[in-house]
Amino acid sequence: MTLPESRASLSPSDTEAFGEELARLILNDSALPRFVALYGDLGVGKTAFVRGFTKAIAPEARVKSPTFALVNQYKGSRCSVFHFDMYRIESEDDLYSIGFYDYMDGNGICLVEWSENIEYALPDVYFRVEIIKDSSDNADSRRIDADIVGL
Ligand SMILES: Nc1ncnc2c1ncn2[C@@H]1O[C@H](COP(=O)(O)OP(=O)(O)O)[C@@H](O)[C@H]1O
Ligand SMILES: [Mg+2]
Repeated sequence: MTLPESRASLSPSDTEAFGEELARLILNDSALPRFVALYGDLGVGKTAFVRGFTKAIAPEARVKSPTFALVNQYKGSRCSVFHFDMYRIESEDDLYSIGFYDYMDGNGICLVEWSENIEYALPDVYFRVEIIKDSSDNADSRRIDADIVGL
């Protein structure tokens, strides 16, 4: 993968494969940011992307939406994946109470669904991944844009 990258996804497994590829890129280059901000509407495939990403790091993990817990943690042999869903976050107090900044400093890679809601809390440099439903007739068709912000 070369960044920026814009790719079509025609199925959940395409989206997972993109996630897995990004994880391998990050694992193989310690200079890259360990924070992925995910953007896109409900049901577009953000959790599917995280599922594929996590496959490269904690293959045994069962990735589910952390909507109620706000954060799920998947422990791998090399590092952890911290999977956030910020849909319900209303203030920075909420971020403190889930320990968001501690996770950011921890030995893991943060992936954040609904990053729109915590724009002020994003690190200086991070991956931005946006998933968009294609306007085509195919209900499973998506466009996935990935880039590094802040470099
Ligand atoms: N190309 C695709 N990529 C990802 N998910 C897809 C795709 N096509 C259909 N889907 C379906 O869309 C839904 C995405 O759900 P999910 O990953 O939980 O979305 P989000 O986390 O963005 O709310 C799943 O039901 C999945 O099967
Ligand atoms: Mg989700």
